[in-house]
Amino acid sequence: FNRGSRAPDEVGAGERIEALLSDIPDIAYAGYGEGAVADYIPGLREVPPRQYGVAIACQDGTLYQAGEAGQQFSIQSISKLFTLALALRLAGEAVWARVGRDPCMRKFNSVSEVEANLGIPSNPFINAGALAITDLIVSHSSAPRRILQDLLRRLIDTDDIFSDPRIARGEAEVGHRNAALGYLLKDYGNLDNRVEDVLSVYYAHCAIAMSCLELAQSALFLACDGVSPITGQRIVSADQTREINAVLATCGMYNGAGEFAFKVGIPAKSGVGGGILAIVPQRMTICAWSPELDPHGNSVVGQRILQHLVKQIRASVY
Ligand code: DON
Repeated sequence: FNRGSRAPDEVGAGERIEALLSDIPDIAYAGYGEGAVADYIPGLREVPPRQYGVAIACQDGTLYQAGEAGQQFSIQSISKLFTLALALRLAGEAVWARVGRDPCMRKFNSVSEVEANLGIPSNPFINAGALAITDLIVSHSSAPRRILQDLLRRLIDTDDIFSDPRIARGEAEVGHRNAALGYLLKDYGNLDNRVEDVLSVYYAHCAIAMSCLELAQSALFLACDGVSPITGQRIVSADQTREINAVLATCGMYNGAGEFAFKVGIPAKSGVGGGILAIVPQRMTICAWSPELDPHGNSVVGQRILQHLVKQIRASVY
């Protein structure tokens, strides 16, 4: 394990976290085979299913890791957390005229949910919500395809973050449902740009590849009132940070959000690449990854890892 010089919160906490991480392999092996790798996106179905990574990034910069924490994977819907932050930076409160802040009742790519809500997606983390947010970014940025990658690179001071064109292309080829969502939003007047342009930026963002270590560090601003402790840069205001974390807690795990709040109890965002990025406000971020998913699209082993760690370090916000 990689440990800095200072314990994160209290004397001995570092040793405790390291001891907890040594429990993770057993948790992972016990959960393998209970879920299935996302197979609706070409490229994702080829990822070896039985692997895991976990990284913890503390406010003071201390890092902990276990398993394949440095292995990059497709961040998929985890990108929606960062695009929401970007949209709030670019467009401020106007974001909330385009998407709601309530959990969705149906699957994350449901068309009928958007129709029932008359073109206002329930929240920014379902696909339709992310398309409306991406549309805002396209309207406000001269380089919308690169803007997220550039922000992520700046957040952790690296040049090693790329969008995988093979994943983005594959998704565009099979993404008829996302296209349907785009056209439905357009029909309701909730998309200003061309559907094709918004979809292509959306796929580029979902296809960004990052590791648990990179994701945990890049989200630290959400544990630090909106300021990245790595670079000192303010990303969003303290109020917006609290608001993003609230929407993550209620909507970030889709239809599994209630169960996740019950069992784990911290704001988190999942992606169908198997990653889950979780925030412990004022303390740390935790990213867990393992490709096999439950029916809601959330990593089975990733949730178990988070449940174990959060319980033992008493990090639930409830
Ligand atoms: O548009 C899609 O369906 C994917 N690019 C992202 C979906 C996703 O990650 C949902 N998360 N659990």
